[in-house]
Amino acid sequence: MSSLGAPRPWVEAYAPATVSNLGPGFDCLGLAVSSPGDRVRARRSTSPGVRLLKIRGDQGRLSLDPAENTACVAVTTLLERIGATQLGVDLELVKGLPLGSGLGSSGASACAALVASVAALGLSVGNETMIDAAREAERVACGTPHPDNVAPAILGGIVLIAATDPLRVISLPVPDSLYLAIYTPGCEVKTADARAVLPKRVGLDAVVRQSARMGQLVHALHVGDLALLGEAIVDDLVEPARAHLIPGFLDAKVNALEAGALACTISGAGPTVFALSDDAGRAEALQEILDESFTHAGVQGTGRVEQVGAGARVISPPMH
Ligand code: HSE
Repeated sequence: MSSLGAPRPWVEAYAPATVSNLGPGFDCLGLAVSSPGDRVRARRSTSPGVRLLKIRGDQGRLSLDPAENTACVAVTTLLERIGATQLGVDLELVKGLPLGSGLGSSGASACAALVASVAALGLSVGNETMIDAAREAERVACGTPHPDNVAPAILGGIVLIAATDPLRVISLPVPDSLYLAIYTPGCEVKTADARAVLPKRVGLDAVVRQSARMGQLVHALHVGDLALLGEAIVDDLVEPARAHLIPGFLDAKVNALEAGALACTISGAGPTVFALSDDAGRAEALQEILDESFTHAGVQGTGRVEQVGAGARVISPPMH
């Protein structure tokens, strides 16, 4: 037997889907929803390094290569940063999130892997250290270490990333009656492609408008004014550049707003779209309107109504 001893029991963690950008907050604002999410099982192994033994739910599309899978990259980065590369961990990933959906799929795998590994290895690691490691995995996934999915995936709730170097994250108040109709059309958008279409420069007027909306959004969350929140969730920097990547998006948005959505925009890099309501029943109706709109556009997908939820956590006993 090696000095590290025999393999230990599996520990399983869950990390939720996340909706990022939230209108004006490109790369700096995101929220966690209750479900769906990804699950990762981790166990301490007898040899150093991170291995991904199995992936389920990805239709064979993800790599088991530790340099390419975000679950492994996140844990490897963490072990390097805390000076614990002598440790070894085996991982198994169960994808609950569709790939290329705009729901933070790559980030959820990374965050679930971190939480499971930290527990399996008996480490004591702060949330910001985990978010920092998880965003390195995003670099592998799309070329940029954007933190707006992994921060809410770890912390839960609604999170503002106030600074990236060093990382500074601020949890914002979550209104009780905030409902999201979330719809993932039946098409895929790679985050790297959605970033490639973005303008390299933006005008000062647009920056002023976007900054004002961010201020309004944060204020609205603090005072719990959902109408004010909805007004602030407007994005005329990023959304117009990406709208053409999502068939039917512009009509779906008009239909949702006409039906009383407080706001409607793209979730992260898309193609998932969300509409906001302060009423559960209306959110269900909005979900149906999004379904009709995207079905009409030939990209029928799946929708659900969610509220803001908790962050990544150990779930016990492991699910099979
Ligand atoms: N903020 C990122 C983007 C999120 O919009 O590209 C990617 O999920």
